[in-house]
Amino acid sequence: MADVTDVAFRCVIAKYSRMGEVGGGPHVMWTEFVSADALAHSVGRDRVLHHFRFSQSEHPIVAQIFGATPENFRIAASLVRDMGFDGVDINMGCPEKNIQRQGACAALIQTPSLAKEIIHATKEGAGDMPVSVKTRIGYNKVDVDSWIPELLSCDIAALTVHGRTKKEMSKVPAHWDVIGRVVQMAQDFETVVIGNGDVVDIADARQKAQEYGVSGVMLGRAIFGNPWLFDENRVDAVSVSERLRVMVEHTKLYEKNFSDVKNFSLMKKHYVAYVSGFSGARQLRQRLMEATCAEEVSLVVDDFLCSLE
Ligand SMILES: Cc1cc2nc3c(=O)[nH]c(=O)nc-3n(C[C@H](O)[C@H](O)[C@H](O)COP(=O)(O)O)c2cc1C
Repeated sequence: MADVTDVAFRCVIAKYSRMGEVGGGPHVMWTEFVSADALAHSVGRDRVLHHFRFSQSEHPIVAQIFGATPENFRIAASLVRDMGFDGVDINMGCPEKNIQRQGACAALIQTPSLAKEIIHATKEGAGDMPVSVKTRIGYNKVDVDSWIPELLSCDIAALTVHGRTKKEMSKVPAHWDVIGRVVQMAQDFETVVIGNGDVVDIADARQKAQEYGVSGVMLGRAIFGNPWLFDENRVDAVSVSERLRVMVEHTKLYEKNFSDVKNFSLMKKHYVAYVSGFSGARQLRQRLMEATCAEEVSLVVDDFLCSLE
């Protein structure tokens, strides 16, 4: 998720969800989406490459790219492969207006021949690295019958289906029944279908996988403030002090990685998620909103935890 699951947060998720251990997870992570156009040009590349920072603890990790120019996908995919990613994913689902104007992301649902050209160019650049697509179930209306076969015909490794149309943005519940139909359509193909939309935890993911037949489930917003989400071995609840200590650790990692390129205020949406559901949370959040660096966040948290003793 753009400006959310950057290298700092993903490292925290990998550590506290025990990625790579039995019962831990996730089994794969994706980066934020990055412009293929920017990646394809030396000047633009320097502006966006920080979005592709990752650490060894995050493997397997897939780089997500977006755009509307096949040749730039070829160049970007080759770069992604050279950087050591485990796969490259093409975003055909983002509904943002300024991106639609470029003909990219969800707009590609309306231009399937360009979408296919983009997949072929990406595969050329990717070599033997797997290429996947993330998309929605239609543009203005549910349209899997014509859209999904176009993608499946390109022999992609995986297809993540967010169960809403572009028009629906995130305003209605995800149509998991339609995701189930996509699974049926993919039966005769090698492509792995991953379902996405409104999944709240691992139990919910397992239930959806069982009911709709998807091979995998992608969780997005459920990870906010909850890097323990994928650890199935965890039995005890996360205490307030542990939650806040991890929030500070996350903040320090963010500062270490991004003090030169990203605004500190981007951390604040994480504070809203970490700091809720306990006594004094509102006042603590207010103080955190005024913090301008990791050191200040750490002091505010120490002060709060002392007040609990
Ligand atoms: C803040 C935010 C940023 C997102 N950025 C991306 C992105 O860069 N690439 C992408 O494929 N989806 C992105 N999404 C969409 C999510 O991946 C996901 O499809 C959507 O939130 C529905 O799944 P969920 O209910 O599990 O969150 C983003 C969503 C949010 C809320």
